Amino acid sequence: MYTIIAGGSGLIGRALTEDLTADGHEVIILSRRPERVRGLPPGARAVRWDGRTPEGWQEYVEECNAIVNLTGTRIAPWPWTAARKRQILDSRVHSGQAVTQAVAAAVKRPRVVVQASGVGFYGPRGDESIDESAAPGDDFLAQVCIAWEATAQPLDALGVRRVIIRTGHVLSRTGGLLPYLALPYRLWVGGPMGNGRQGQPWIHIADHVAAVRWLIEHEVAAGAFNLVAPQRTSNASMSRALGQALGRPAVVTVPAFVLRLLLGEEATILLDGQHAIPARLQELGFAFRFPTAEAALSDLLG
Ligand SMILES: NC(=O)c1ccc[n+]([C@@H]2O[C@H](COP(=O)([O-])OP(=O)(O)OC[C@H]3O[C@@H](n4cnc5c(N)ncnc54)[C@H](OP(=O)(O)O)[C@@H]3O)[C@@H](O)[C@H]2O)c1
Repeated sequence: MYTIIAGGSGLIGRALTEDLTADGHEVIILSRRPERVRGLPPGARAVRWDGRTPEGWQEYVEECNAIVNLTGTRIAPWPWTAARKRQILDSRVHSGQAVTQAVAAAVKRPRVVVQASGVGFYGPRGDESIDESAAPGDDFLAQVCIAWEATAQPLDALGVRRVIIRTGHVLSRTGGLLPYLALPYRLWVGGPMGNGRQGQPWIHIADHVAAVRWLIEHEVAAGAFNLVAPQRTSNASMSRALGQALGRPAVVTVPAFVLRLLLGEEATILLDGQHAIPARLQELGFAFRFPTAEAALSDLLG
């Protein structure tokens, strides 16, 4: 038995693959270019798919224990042109549909499908604390997440456990947002963005990987889960924690209008966060290794 990780060649998929194989599990990564997925640990291999259909990988579904779908073109840092927005949406919806079709066509189905989504599902939310019962937003990212999550909905009727992971910014040494966030501090020009009060939901990559594995293993886990650290973190408090971890001041505020001018609509990622809380993970007893930004950043940047 093995785990299939669609889009597993990226930041989260690589870390999840390392963790699973270190415990003796086998992993099949679905990639559009398997020949470029190098340096995999023993027990993992890459198989070709087109990200749109079950063709070429359907046979692997029969013997797999779980499918984790992490596919999607990057949301940042490129500008959100109309073509880019289409790609952001299509890469997620088409891959989600392909996974669901492959599961539906299988004679032996996996126990669980974990489908990626983001806290962007909730849209910009000011000061309120947002748990999984909150209504979706209506901006571009919320619309992407709604359509993305909907691709996994038919799994319920097939009797396959469906877990949706609404992830915050994944903090990692090797990629994602953190290297971009840390750069101005390294150059002594770090500080809050906009008024700094906006929520900045985040999770340490080690906790993300542990949470995905925990959700795969716990049969009671189904539906949507916020994968964010439990500490309520505003942009200003993340800024202070970054300054502290790097031994730099955090005083150079970047005005909102500058970010909107530079990034356009995409500035929403930095300026309009949500205070998402991992209510369902905590209710079910998941323990975070890095619950505070200070602990996470001292581990990743210290
Ligand atoms: N990292 C975060 O902070 C964060 C936060 C919230 C949500 N998420 C979501 O979680 C998922 C995994 O995140 P990640 O950071 O690991 O992403 P990532 O590093 O960008 O990896 C995603 C993978 O998706 C595949 N992919 C990219 N464009 C594609 C396309 N047009 N069609 C089909 N496949 C495509 C790529 O694999 P191949 O090139 O090998 O095919 C890539 O390795 C993503 O869907 C992301 O939106 C991430």
